[in-house]
Amino acid sequence: MDEWIDYYDSTHTIYASKLHRDLHFAVIARDIIGYIASPDAVVLDYACGEALSAARVADACGKLYLAEPAPGVRGRLIARFAPNTKIRVRSLEDVRKMAEKSIDLAVMNSVAQYMTPDELDAAFVTMKRILKPAGRLVLGDILRPEVGMFRDVVALLRFAAKNGFLKDALVGLISTALSDYRQLRTRIGLQRYSEQEIVAKLEKAGFTAARAHQNIGHNPWRMTFVARHPLT
Ligand SMILES: C[S@@+](CC[C@H](N)C(=O)[O-])C[C@H]1O[C@@H](n2cnc3c(N)ncnc32)[C@H](O)[C@@H]1O
Repeated sequence: MDEWIDYYDSTHTIYASKLHRDLHFAVIARDIIGYIASPDAVVLDYACGEALSAARVADACGKLYLAEPAPGVRGRLIARFAPNTKIRVRSLEDVRKMAEKSIDLAVMNSVAQYMTPDELDAAFVTMKRILKPAGRLVLGDILRPEVGMFRDVVALLRFAAKNGFLKDALVGLISTALSDYRQLRTRIGLQRYSEQEIVAKLEKAGFTAARAHQNIGHNPWRMTFVARHPLT
């Protein structure tokens, strides 16, 4: 859905403050690193956003591809990580052209909710093709049909209270309520999947998949799945 890509390319207010944004990306990087099986691993972060802590992920692997559809965000990634020889920035079109069996770990965190079900199927097929036989796809932050926006608010406030940005988070929630995000979320909505639905979708693309014990990031009401080639 291009409207969400345009939203992420705009000067949005999804992060309540610089501290919130920095902590968000630090937590995501920590969780991605937890899935890296070897220091030589080739890792793909699919729709990585600003990826402010990507250098830490790159330190823990052999090569890190940062793929992002929003052109403005991609431009900033290129500028930010130009000196880091382990990091390469790619468009999603570039990802579709990547060599077969070239990636050890692909991560898609907090992306599926913005894609149409068909876009997500197509992305899974690409991942299946570019992952090595022993590679894994980690699909994080999946929204469940029965969990509404209230839980997102509670999760954010808990994260903020623990990390000293509660006041910013409260102000941020008010501006979010009045923002394009709220309008888009109301108008186009976010895609939600039950555990069974997402596992079935991954199986349709040829993966075998299971839910992880913990979600990537700060929201425990959302789900993470680990998918791999069958028989590995
Ligand atoms: C919430 S951000 C997640 C960024 C990062 N993965 C993280 O965990 O912080 C959502 C990302 O999805 C991308 N996106 C939005 N709509 C998309 C679509 N239809 N297809 C692929 N990516 C999309 C945005 O450009 C943005 O980078």
